Amino acid sequence: MTDRYAVFGHPIAHSKSPLIHAAFARQTGQDISYEAILAPLDGFADSLAAFIAAGGRGANVTVPFKETAFKLALRLSPRAERAGAVNTLSFDRDGMLGDNTDGAGLVADLTHNLHCALGGKRILLLGAGGAARGVIEPLLDQQPAVLVIANRTLGRAQELAGLFGRGVSASAFEAADTPFDLVINATAASLAGELPPLSPRIFGANTLAYDMMYGRDTPFLGFARGHGAATADGLGMLVEQAAEAFYLWRGVRPDTAPVIAGLRA
Ligand code: ATR
Repeated sequence: MTDRYAVFGHPIAHSKSPLIHAAFARQTGQDISYEAILAPLDGFADSLAAFIAAGGRGANVTVPFKETAFKLALRLSPRAERAGAVNTLSFDRDGMLGDNTDGAGLVADLTHNLHCALGGKRILLLGAGGAARGVIEPLLDQQPAVLVIANRTLGRAQELAGLFGRGVSASAFEAADTPFDLVINATAASLAGELPPLSPRIFGANTLAYDMMYGRDTPFLGFARGHGAATADGLGMLVEQAAEAFYLWRGVRPDTAPVIAGLRA
């Protein structure tokens, strides 16, 4: 029997997750199906319940349902608990287990694909919404020297920094003005084609600028490149978070490199 999986979101038509999981399944010989499900904005719980009743084994959750999935899950992994959001659900007879593979996906992309070791590094994280919160703990696990959270609304950055404590501080965008080894854009500014008001002094010759968005060259990446930084988009993170979910469900770790290369082509 083919095991069923799906990604839930709104909108969902442009999701690459079905393609990615189909590639993982082919590569590993796993008998699964994976579809994209558009849940109504006020009907995620019902949509999910219908999928489980129809035999669904697991699901990914994307915008705007990650916080709702967090509330619905009966059990949470420690990393989902810290992230305050769930992007991966597994269904078994004990109910829904919620996990969050976004941060692990980012760290895998940075360390394995981009060869950017994070230990002892200075990291600047732009944004203090759900996307930023989801990656903080996995970044801290890599033991950077400092992690600064900069946000348009300083209070949100301070609140988030307070949640994590050790080695994490908050800043306004303009106040961050010394070079960082890694600058990660987790704001929604790229979606709107906007550039946060950043100082060019955050970029040095050895800085990697990473935008969690993928599929287009963002104003942030253009600005960083113009000031001498190396750049990367979030396509690798997308594939790596999917690989981590696939591993949770199937116990097999797919090879991500050919899948990333295929999507780029
Ligand atoms: P997500 O789940 O994508 O993180 P969110 O929780 O709504 O969504 O958070 C959006 C983040 O992008 C916030 O950090 C937001 O800044 P504020 O906290 O000040 O609202 C940031 N953001 C959105 N639009 C932005 C823009 N044009 N420039 C800079 N930051 C922006």
